[in-house]
Amino acid sequence: MRNYTTHKRVLITGGAGFLGAHLCERLLEEQCNVICLDNFFTGTKDNILHLLDNPRFELMRHDVTFPLYIEVDEIYNLACPASPIHYQYDPVQTTKTSVHGAINMLGLAKRTRAKIMQASTSEVYGDPEVHPQPEEYWGRVNPIGIRSCYDEGKRCAETLFFDYQRQHDLNIKVARIFNTYGPKMHPNDGRVVSNFIIQALRGEPITVYGDGSQSRSFCYVDDLIEGFVRLMASVDGFTGPVNLGNPIEFTIKELAETVIGMTNSKSKIDYKLLPSDDPRQRQPDIRLAKKELGWEPKTQLQDGLKHTIKYFDSLLCN
Ligand SMILES: NC(=O)c1ccc[n+]([C@@H]2O[C@H](COP(=O)([O-])OP(=O)(O)OC[C@H]3O[C@@H](n4cnc5c(N)ncnc54)[C@H](O)[C@@H]3O)[C@@H](O)[C@H]2O)c1
Repeated sequence: MRNYTTHKRVLITGGAGFLGAHLCERLLEEQCNVICLDNFFTGTKDNILHLLDNPRFELMRHDVTFPLYIEVDEIYNLACPASPIHYQYDPVQTTKTSVHGAINMLGLAKRTRAKIMQASTSEVYGDPEVHPQPEEYWGRVNPIGIRSCYDEGKRCAETLFFDYQRQHDLNIKVARIFNTYGPKMHPNDGRVVSNFIIQALRGEPITVYGDGSQSRSFCYVDDLIEGFVRLMASVDGFTGPVNLGNPIEFTIKELAETVIGMTNSKSKIDYKLLPSDDPRQRQPDIRLAKKELGWEPKTQLQDGLKHTIKYFDSLLCN
């Protein structure tokens, strides 16, 4: 029998989700023992099915709003629905997942002295007056709107991480993730890249909210995962928060046109009313990630879209 006990034990909460599944793959490649924890609210076994035979991979159905008692060396806390359709479905549960989830995972880190990384979000900047957003910017967030369960939940989770660090001397890392895309994204979560690709592949009108002049930056998933791994391996005492995202901006209209072109689709753009609290601009300032992690995105939008289109094409064919 082989002995796997010398390998690092890494817990990934939300491990069956889009980012979590890519992180599971990456950490298995690095010979870690991976515990993938998920309640399957938005994640799916399909994302990690190919990993189930790996003796260093373990799947655990659990909800992070409940305490967890296991032994681990590192924790990546990714559990939380990430798209407005999903996080607004049960907003109270969304806040609980961020806040109680953070408390429970920080409690586990405190007990095991594990290093812990939080998947925070650019949404902590809200609808920013500062552009691009550096980590020192405190944000402009509506505390009572329909996006608040997510934005304020994530802000409170960051507070908890820093209080646990100050009060209990935990080794914490906080990543503020900007729009990320790639294979394994949820097909029906209303996120702009997946929406556009699916609509284009089906030849349906491409829904653009507002006039399409609002800008976004899009980071390919492999680049983001590289950022996660580098952040976890960064020197003790480097906590972040650190922005991880692609600073190259595109307007939503440009993205729609690129996707139509790359899929050879006959789809036309259909302009609709902008939803409330939708930020006009979002662009990471990644100077800190460059300096501390030597990290910056490498994948061009066209290359990332090619892989993502291929993934959705095969998903729609099945
Ligand atoms: N993808 C992005 O562009 C992006 C941007 C900013 C932040 N993030 C953050 O990264 C993390 C992962 O996002 P994603 O895009 O992979 O989303 P996702 O919805 O694909 O993954 C989230 C996973 O968490 C699981 N989950 C939800 N609530 C849970 C609970 N209470 N207990 C256990 N598991 C639970 C879901 O089932 C899912 O597998 C999230 O915390 C999200 O807020 C993602």
